[in-house]
Amino acid sequence: MSPLRNIAIIGPTPTLGSYILNSLLRTPNFNITIITRSTSLSTFPPHPSQTIIKIPDTYPEPELIAALTNQDALVINLPVSLTATTQLKIIDCAVKAGVKRIIPSDFAGCVPLEKTQELDFMTRDNVTVVKYLKDKEREGMTWSAIKCGLYIDYQLAVPWFCFDLKAQKVQFWDEGEAKFSTSTRERIGDAVAAVLTHPQETENKIVYVNSFTTSQKQLLGVLEKATGSKWEVETVNSVDEVSAGKEMLSKGNMMGIGAIVKSICFTEGWGADFEAEDVEVMNEVLGLEKENLEDVVRKIVESF
Ligand SMILES: NC(=O)c1ccc[n+]([C@@H]2O[C@H](COP(=O)([O-])OP(=O)(O)OC[C@H]3O[C@@H](n4cnc5c(N)ncnc54)[C@H](OP(=O)(O)O)[C@@H]3O)[C@@H](O)[C@H]2O)c1
Repeated sequence: MSPLRNIAIIGPTPTLGSYILNSLLRTPNFNITIITRSTSLSTFPPHPSQTIIKIPDTYPEPELIAALTNQDALVINLPVSLTATTQLKIIDCAVKAGVKRIIPSDFAGCVPLEKTQELDFMTRDNVTVVKYLKDKEREGMTWSAIKCGLYIDYQLAVPWFCFDLKAQKVQFWDEGEAKFSTSTRERIGDAVAAVLTHPQETENKIVYVNSFTTSQKQLLGVLEKATGSKWEVETVNSVDEVSAGKEMLSKGNMMGIGAIVKSICFTEGWGADFEAEDVEVMNEVLGLEKENLEDVVRKIVESF
């Protein structure tokens, strides 16, 4: 495959998108086209390699095809609230426009094991999108889906994710010892750029990357060192949490997904520890160094 030069990105704004955009803009020889919604309040500082296209919020086909014509690659970064259907429509438009490589909005925290798919609709959606992309291979399009673990720098700064930096409290899932893969958003942005500069190595693959693997217990030790204080520990039972999450979802309460996602990440056997699964973690192939857990946590604590 010839080098990918013209790269379009949909959803290049927080929580993750701005990190992806920054990495793409730093990559030599990339021409970046930002596709943003007409009503979006996002702003983009001028950059010589960047073009901005505003299209209606519903991503209509003619406008999307026009925006994607002459693009070599498309990176999609959309909120999970939009479901797989929006992505399938965007993929169709990209194929019609002749885009050669698609990176879907995946960026998931776990390997999509059968049991994880049964539990988590977001994992199921990601599998649906990958199946669709595989189907489109015969039309000449290629794809790479990136799985990166939790966004450690984001999740640690919001108490929703068990670590409450302000109150210095943690909620352990069982003993807090289950290992999980995790990445900083900067590293995920770099992974997107690296996938596009390594098109052969990443062709038609789920690409696993991480900054490091850790556990809640290990993170607590590093956080206590970084904050210089002893944290309060509460323990919950993972089996009870899964039941509670399922019950909430079955009653239409989407908040139940919180307990499900945390159970997948903080309990063994749901696919959150990439190194423990039968998958290739591609950091080395892509030239992405692992990060130092203590340095990352110290930076998060200092900027909190
Ligand atoms: N591994 C993890 O820890 C983790 C955590 C959260 C999310 N994720 C994954 O990361 C990806 C992005 O999710 P996210 O929650 O971070 O996305 P997000 O920041 O909420 O949205 C990304 C962009 O999508 C565009 N957009 C299009 N329609 C929208 C709508 N109806 N409402 C809001 N924004 C809309 C916006 O860009 P414009 O304004 O420029 O149009 C927005 O900035 C998903 O694949 C998700 O599964 C992973």
